[in-house]
Amino acid sequence: MKKVVIHKPGGYEQLKLEEHADLQPDPDEILIEVAAIGVNFADCVTRMGLYASAKEYVGYPITPGFEVSGTIHAVGNDVTKFKPGAKVLAVTRFNGYATQLVVKQSQVFPLPAQLSLEAAASLPAVALTAWFAMFQLAHAQRGDTVLIHSAAGGVGGMLVQLGKIAGCKVIGVVGAAHKCATVMALGADAIIDKSSQDLWSEAERLAPDGYDIILDANGAATLKQSYRHLAAIGKLVVYGFHSMLQTRKGVPGKLRLAIDYLRTPRFSPFDLTTQNRSVLGFNLSFLFDKNAIMQQGMQQILQWVESGELQPPGITSYPLAAVAEAHRALESGQTTGKLVLRCDA
Ligand SMILES: NC(=O)c1ccc[n+]([C@@H]2O[C@H](COP(=O)([O-])OP(=O)(O)OC[C@H]3O[C@@H](n4cnc5c(N)ncnc54)[C@H](OP(=O)(O)O)[C@@H]3O)[C@@H](O)[C@H]2O)c1
Repeated sequence: MKKVVIHKPGGYEQLKLEEHADLQPDPDEILIEVAAIGVNFADCVTRMGLYASAKEYVGYPITPGFEVSGTIHAVGNDVTKFKPGAKVLAVTRFNGYATQLVVKQSQVFPLPAQLSLEAAASLPAVALTAWFAMFQLAHAQRGDTVLIHSAAGGVGGMLVQLGKIAGCKVIGVVGAAHKCATVMALGADAIIDKSSQDLWSEAERLAPDGYDIILDANGAATLKQSYRHLAAIGKLVVYGFHSMLQTRKGVPGKLRLAIDYLRTPRFSPFDLTTQNRSVLGFNLSFLFDKNAIMQQGMQQILQWVESGELQPPGITSYPLAAVAEAHRALESGQTTGKLVLRCDA
């Protein structure tokens, strides 16, 4: 088998594609011959050495990757739900950047007829993240006004679609003009292109009474203003800090990290109470053992895919050997939809 190994944190050169011994499943495990792998911003943060759950659960060397699709090659004796030859998608906490993966059967889902293998690999991480934020934390209600930052990206695009499924008025924010068409096609009611418009005066014009829900993975760049633009009983969901992570050759600047860490707002319980606002945060990679939530989320997501209500993200694919190119592209901040690595190329 081949897998991408990061022996020590750093730039793109740390992504080494290596040959390793083939895997064997334990009695309760499934061995998947991987066809496609979803690339997430968290994989880049893992490469940079700044992803907390990578340090907590694995350390270095590490193989990143949270999601794959492919064909079942072998199953352990205790596996009842799947047979070799079945096409599947799977979630995993790390180890996904590989041509083979072993996982428990609870992490594996049949490939919906509507999805190609590439589309299936692009779906679970961003869809589960968006589902958890929108429905488990923010409890989106019909008629809510929702502001979604980075709305053309992987998670952002899913949030736009889930906001519309929930019956909300969805306003998407993007950082470049070429992303507007993507967000419009996903069903957003309005778009703010912050490269040419003043983000917050436009946000106020579109929702003079404030937002019921704001979903923000920028971090210091927008969190304070996101909080200020909540309506009464509004909820700010914080799920990432990507504006801190501007890199040179894939290595984040220490000064920028330190300044942004200090700039990140701390929310006062007194203000939250008197202003009737909530700030919610989560990181799914620390919730991986909450199997009931993952099953509930995946079942709902796959049901929406099968009914045609939810579309997979638009995909740009790269051969597994070009993993560094994929990371560089995602960190450019210019991509839309999702990047996928293909094992056959
Ligand atoms: N908490 C969780 O469980 C969880 C799970 C999955 C993802 N996430 C977080 O969700 C966010 C989106 O992840 P994704 O994989 O779907 O990525 P993505 O949104 O496809 O790409 C990142 C986007 O962030 C914006 N951005 C702002 N500053 C950036 C920078 N310094 N470098 C790169 N991009 C920057 C860019 O969009 P605009 O310029 O248009 O804003 C860019 O397109 C990330 O922060 C990720 O860590 C969190």
